[in-house]
Amino acid sequence: MSQTRPIDEHSMHTRTCGELRRENVGEEVTLTGWVSRRRDHGGLIFCDLRDREGITQLTFDPEHSDGDAFKIAETMRPEWPIKIHGVVRARGEETTNTKLATGEIEVLTDHAEVLNTSVTPPFQIEDGIETSEDTRLRYRYLDLRRPEMYANLKLRHVVAQAMRSALNKRGFLEVETPILANSTPEGARDYIVPSRPNPGKFYALPQSPQQFKQMLMVGGIERYYQIARCFRDEDLRADRQPEFTQVDIEMSFVKENDVIDMMEGVFQEVLEAAGVEHEFPLQRMPWKEAMDRFGCDRPDIRFGMELVELTEIVRDCGFGVFSKAVEAGNIVKAINCKGAGDWSRGEIEKLGNIASENGAKGMAWIAYTTDGKEKSPIIKFLGDEVHAKIKEAMNVEAGDLVLFAADTFDIANAVLSALRLHMADALDIPRPGHKLLWVVDFPMFKFDEETNKYAAEHHPFTMIPEADWDKIETDPLACGSYSYDIVMDGFEAGGGSIRIHNAELQKRVLARCGVDEEDMEVKFGHLIHALELGAPPHGGIAIGLDRLVMLLAGKQSIRDVIAFPKTSSASDPMTGAPNAVTAKQLKEVALRTL
Ligand code: AMO
Ligand code: AMP
Repeated sequence: MSQTRPIDEHSMHTRTCGELRRENVGEEVTLTGWVSRRRDHGGLIFCDLRDREGITQLTFDPEHSDGDAFKIAETMRPEWPIKIHGVVRARGEETTNTKLATGEIEVLTDHAEVLNTSVTPPFQIEDGIETSEDTRLRYRYLDLRRPEMYANLKLRHVVAQAMRSALNKRGFLEVETPILANSTPEGARDYIVPSRPNPGKFYALPQSPQQFKQMLMVGGIERYYQIARCFRDEDLRADRQPEFTQVDIEMSFVKENDVIDMMEGVFQEVLEAAGVEHEFPLQRMPWKEAMDRFGCDRPDIRFGMELVELTEIVRDCGFGVFSKAVEAGNIVKAINCKGAGDWSRGEIEKLGNIASENGAKGMAWIAYTTDGKEKSPIIKFLGDEVHAKIKEAMNVEAGDLVLFAADTFDIANAVLSALRLHMADALDIPRPGHKLLWVVDFPMFKFDEETNKYAAEHHPFTMIPEADWDKIETDPLACGSYSYDIVMDGFEAGGGSIRIHNAELQKRVLARCGVDEEDMEVKFGHLIHALELGAPPHGGIAIGLDRLVMLLAGKQSIRDVIAFPKTSSASDPMTGAPNAVTAKQLKEVALRTL
């Protein structure tokens, strides 16, 4: 991921602060940057000068000064931008700084110019600071001066350019689509914007360019991409922002394999640009297998601790929680946490909170201590025979802790998936490098208990295999779909599908998702009419650029790879957004606040 800035005539300096080496000794240089540290050694002043490329040590010696340079150095303070002139000289062996790329040299400065001053900054500009994120965001422009933040933005740039280059090469056209748009169902709340010339009417900011990219396919563009800003008003997490960026892609006259193969080529180029090695082709895992083995549709496959189904083993056992669950049509599954067998009862019971946060009514467990004892609230009910079968199925050894979930398919999997990730952290299970895979064959529909309606698992524009079309009305949960997610290190890095290009089928799917006649026309009329006018078969994908860069940068939050992110309450401490508006502004758009 090299890419240092070339020096040209449109610059106040002749070199950057990151590039001078022993070979440059004797060279006259002009440098600009920020004063990072200044050390006054009586007769000599040392100063670390920082720009985005690195740090160079300046030495101010009254004997080598044009008269003012030394005096200026005495007044300089951290974060003042300065310009200097001097000669590169070698540092002695004992003063070489092996931590700095430029550590073998220093610049003996004969001229200095203060370009601006700075009040005392609210935090040190260096990596690994413990300053609160709120303060960092309030002074984001200072935070961005820190080398790690610059490295993150640079990586983001490299990844975005590699995406562009890979797609350009494959004949994709970059097309922009509207931000003032209409609502498109990606599962979140819309951000809405009042329209002044149309009182009482609103635009919705796009949750994704989904409908526009489909229109581009109907428009004959054939291969489209866009690095697109998307807006979703949803509860924020470390990997979710109210506005985020997708590399949005759509192709015509393709089947699922064409999109997947093409994207593997793109990913290969992008990972290479980011300096990451990975094997291709990527593994493809059916959704059902991902749920069975990992309990979630975005499995981190860099470590084991897989879920094991015990439903048949415990069907008639003496422990009522299990046998009754099976009788009710639910499932019983468990994970084996190797290395946690000596945890105390209290520590284990605390894990029950993770289970209950994910909907469980309890969390049964058996601990096998390293000195051969068995601790558990449930062994006595299970009976020896069932217990022996569980031990065999779970591959139990001394030092293991087995955690159980007896619940619906959804809850049991959610509980054990969360416990698996928690225990991997707690037990420090190594998860080296990166692991990408495709999760394919998602079901088309899910049943939403809250709204008491069927909803699309991906979105309602996803194509259903023809053999399942007659189940849309009769057995929706049995309908498959041509959809695929690209999963990286336990995160959904992107998702897409082949789309419905048949107007009748589109109406049936929307109706199945509870869209009534009126909404069908108002919200989806344009799409349905477009499908009636010769829409080609088409499909695509959207990659979450923020998440991809976060993972490649080894960060825990997408906020670290976004120049100006929002806090968890969707606000920006730097600008103060969102802000109140004046009564006049409200009146102009025919609105009143409560
Ligand atoms: P989906 O909703 O799966 O698909 O979004 C695609 C990818 O975008 C990323 N993502 C987010 N990143 C940060 N913050 C968020 N709030 C956020 N929400 C989603 C994820 C996700 O995989 N139109 C379809 C794509 C298609 O079918 O082509 C869509 O938007 O990495
Ligand atoms: P109880 O019979 O409710 O006292 O539960 C006995 C043990 O089973 C406790 O350790 C509970 O946490 C656990 N338990 C209860 N319900 C479930 C469930 N649905 N799945 C897994 N374990 C459970």
